Amino acid sequence: MDDWIDYYDSTHTIYVSRLHRDLHFQAIARDIIGYISSPDAVVLDYACGEALSAARVAEACGQLILAEPAPGVRGRLIARFAPNTRIRVRSLDDLRKMPEHTIDLVVMNSVAQYMTKDELDSAFAVILRLLKPSGKLVLGDILQPDVGMFTDVLALLKFGARHGFLKDALIGLVSTALSDYRQLRTRIGLQRYGEAEIIAKLARAGFDAQRAHANIGHNPSRMTFIARPAFARG
Ligand SMILES: C[S@@+](CC[C@H](N)C(=O)[O-])C[C@H]1O[C@@H](n2cnc3c(N)ncnc32)[C@H](O)[C@@H]1O
Repeated sequence: MDDWIDYYDSTHTIYVSRLHRDLHFQAIARDIIGYISSPDAVVLDYACGEALSAARVAEACGQLILAEPAPGVRGRLIARFAPNTRIRVRSLDDLRKMPEHTIDLVVMNSVAQYMTKDELDSAFAVILRLLKPSGKLVLGDILQPDVGMFTDVLALLKFGARHGFLKDALIGLVSTALSDYRQLRTRIGLQRYGEAEIIAKLARAGFDAQRAHANIGHNPSRMTFIARPAFARG
């Protein structure tokens, strides 16, 4: 296994049970819907993963583009959402060929930590090109430099306790500790950014950004940012 894209393309244990996985995607969909400002908005979910609740997001907007780099995951997305005329599935390379200034909302949730700093800059450039001047990028689940793995473990256990899958969460944590995840987390690591650091990085990429009150999903120790194209100020 070379990198995090391979990991997400494999049969991984990041979701400790079917219930955990379903609740995760329901929570993400609910939070994405909260950022959609009009029923005809064009929405891009950048590195969407399995996106199991994408049909709900698609009901709340005009068109939903699901972009995913992992080929196996993308194949499942194409099969799952083929009947849904509001959903299009794309690779990250496809995004570079799409017409500019056509997207109202881009969501990139729980992805930046798996990218190198340069990869994240390239992704910001692609997104800035695609966004309408009035559009926005919601960058979610950013790991802070001073928050360690223990906080993630606690957040998962709390999520499990709240929704009745505490036992599965404990078993899942052990499997994850013994898995490729642990090896990759040690070998490649996860990128972390402080609040000011990511706002400055977004500014260099051409965005005006601010931190949102709450993170997307269930882990409150991670951060979400709302970024608008800086040229929108005129
Ligand atoms: C934790 S999942 C997040 C999926 C979804 N956005 C969510 O919130 O549930 C991480 C995603 O990042 C993608 N990914 C991993 N490494 C990446 C990289 N270097 N560049 C772009 N995407 C990457 C994976 O394919 C996977 O879809």
